[in-house]
Amino acid sequence: MKNKIAELFDIPHDVVYLNCASLSPQLKSVTVAGSLAVHQKVHPWQIQTDDWFANPEGLRGLAAQVINADTDGMAIIPSVSYGISIAAANVRVAKGQQILVMDKEYPSNYYSWNELAKTNGAEILTVKKESTWTESILNALTDRVAVVAVSNCHWTNGALVDLVKIGEKARLVGAALVVDASQAMGAYPIDIQAVQPDFLVSVGYKWLLGPYGLGYLYAAPKYRETGRPIEHSWLTKNNSEDFAGLVNYRDDFRPGARRFDMGEFSGFINVPMAIAALTQVLDWGVGNIQSRLSMIIAEIDRRAVELDFGFPDADERVGHMIGIDLPGGVSDKLKAALKNENIFVGYRGESIRISPYLYTTTQDIERLFNILKNLR
Ligand SMILES: Cc1ncc(COP(=O)(O)O)c(C=O)c1O
Repeated sequence: MKNKIAELFDIPHDVVYLNCASLSPQLKSVTVAGSLAVHQKVHPWQIQTDDWFANPEGLRGLAAQVINADTDGMAIIPSVSYGISIAAANVRVAKGQQILVMDKEYPSNYYSWNELAKTNGAEILTVKKESTWTESILNALTDRVAVVAVSNCHWTNGALVDLVKIGEKARLVGAALVVDASQAMGAYPIDIQAVQPDFLVSVGYKWLLGPYGLGYLYAAPKYRETGRPIEHSWLTKNNSEDFAGLVNYRDDFRPGARRFDMGEFSGFINVPMAIAALTQVLDWGVGNIQSRLSMIIAEIDRRAVELDFGFPDADERVGHMIGIDLPGGVSDKLKAALKNENIFVGYRGESIRISPYLYTTTQDIERLFNILKNLR
């Protein structure tokens, strides 16, 4: 049994897709926008100046709305690793200082920091979860720390990080706050005004329901006048709309965080798809999405308790995804049984990560637990 929202996607009746944290399924509206866009280049003379600038500008505004940011603060980027590289090129890290990262953080929010630490003679400080993530990070956050590079929640199991508290302490000790919001943006409310990060980045293809290869970066005002991009596209320079004057080379950039836009940010196919996706996310509302998904996760929590599985407490995790540890680990037999039943979850070491979406029903959860019960 599928619900009404499932009709907006194209998920076959026998498929239970609980892996949105990896790759969301595509809304039909996004597929339509993409198909139209693919066909547009068949007749390139129909591509208008608007398609180069106005569509990305519209997308920038929609992405800003999702996190209560200003449109000027948003840049369009291809990946989190690209966004973190921008952050690493712009924060100040001196010899002997520390860059704080979370234990087993997603690699895109690690490698650039590791390179920067090597180049500048700084140190990577890996924080392990001792009590809650928030307390563990706050305890490690001394005035030796130059950058706190964290996520809203741990990507493996949804364990929560209180960014507002971490932002406050970071400002107190003079550290920059850089956030990878890929496992939250679109599904968990983020208020840029409350968190005040230096940079926040996110992929667009998970909870933002968009295409692969297009993500978002928020840059705080202090980086918008003098910040250094990591590539120099003609499109990011001021007056690039004037195609006849492109070889009047210039140093100044388009305003705000637009200096950090990726080359070819016009993305004739990806941008219209992302616009369709964010329009739907904003129409539902991130708060409503979180409330609905929290109810589904609460049902998973209830069933997991019955089977004695381990998972983060409700007040220490986000409401839209959960990692559960199975006492005997994840056997090949279990994986095969789930695959055989067309049930898709994420596997992370000894645990499985369950990330539903608005199309998920109680029957879907029941089908998952019928297998988990017998093969744990
Ligand atoms: C927390 C997190 N960050 C980033 C990414 C993807 O990073 P990138 O865009 O650099 O491939 C993922 C993908 O699973 C993720 O879970």
